[in-house]
Amino acid sequence: MKLRLQAIGHAFLGRQVFEKIDLSIDSGQVIALVGPSGCGKTTLLQIAAGLIEPSQGRLHRKYRRHAVVFQEPRLLPWMTARDNIAYGLRSVGVEKELRAKAVERRAAEVGLNARDLDKYPAELSGGMRQRVAVARGLAVDPDIVFFDEPFAAVDVGLKRVLQDLVIEAAARDHFSALFVTHDLAEAVRVAHRLVALSGNGEGFATDRSIDGTPGTRTDREVFDIVETWSRDPAFHELFDGAREHAS
Ligand SMILES: Nc1ncnc2c1ncn2[C@@H]1O[C@H](COP(=O)(O)OP(=O)(O)O)[C@@H](O)[C@H]1O
Ligand SMILES: [Mg+2]
Repeated sequence: MKLRLQAIGHAFLGRQVFEKIDLSIDSGQVIALVGPSGCGKTTLLQIAAGLIEPSQGRLHRKYRRHAVVFQEPRLLPWMTARDNIAYGLRSVGVEKELRAKAVERRAAEVGLNARDLDKYPAELSGGMRQRVAVARGLAVDPDIVFFDEPFAAVDVGLKRVLQDLVIEAAARDHFSALFVTHDLAEAVRVAHRLVALSGNGEGFATDRSIDGTPGTRTDREVFDIVETWSRDPAFHELFDGAREHAS
């Protein structure tokens, strides 16, 4: 177990978002967190990452280092891609030569070349910036990574490439992850297990393992799981929400 949330609840200005959330994330386990818009996914992720103090409950951490990857890349505009990736390493006190090595390695893993690394965020496409953000997170060798809809804004083809990067990195480095997404197919591709936060504040609507292993599921298998689950009452809110958005 890397992280355990115990009876977690949270209210903003007296308005309860959710309560009685229990969740344990095992070593090397990727958990996808889905739920309708506004149900508290970001809040729960930020509590798990220690960015928000929960109103109720306790957290038990059994890891050294974590990383957070947000929907927007949040790069420092005055630094090159290289320096952005190195940024977290500097703050954990890694010396310059090792920093450069880690940056090269992580950049290669996310498909950035040396020329890209010398560019500033404004000179990179949205997809490239998100690659930099992922590389920056992975550069610190995290034991657990918190992803908050990291690929929601990138186009469909690239989304798949970035999902594969995460799947490969998680398998290779054995980090745990909490991966928030509103895309059930993305959840089924990247994760071992899926939890759905209900929209009524009453905790998880479902908590289930996903057949197979991330990276080895065929497109057909992913499609079939999504098809089956989209008829499952546990996910109704998710799809009702999607319809509201579309209309
Ligand atoms: N800093 C904040 N102050 C007050 N209310 C907030 C704050 N952050 C989020 N909320 C509210 O809490 C609820 C959950 O938000 P959020 O966790 O962002 O949901 P999700 O990520 O699932 O869309 C929403 O109703 C949102 O308006
Ligand atoms: Mg959110």
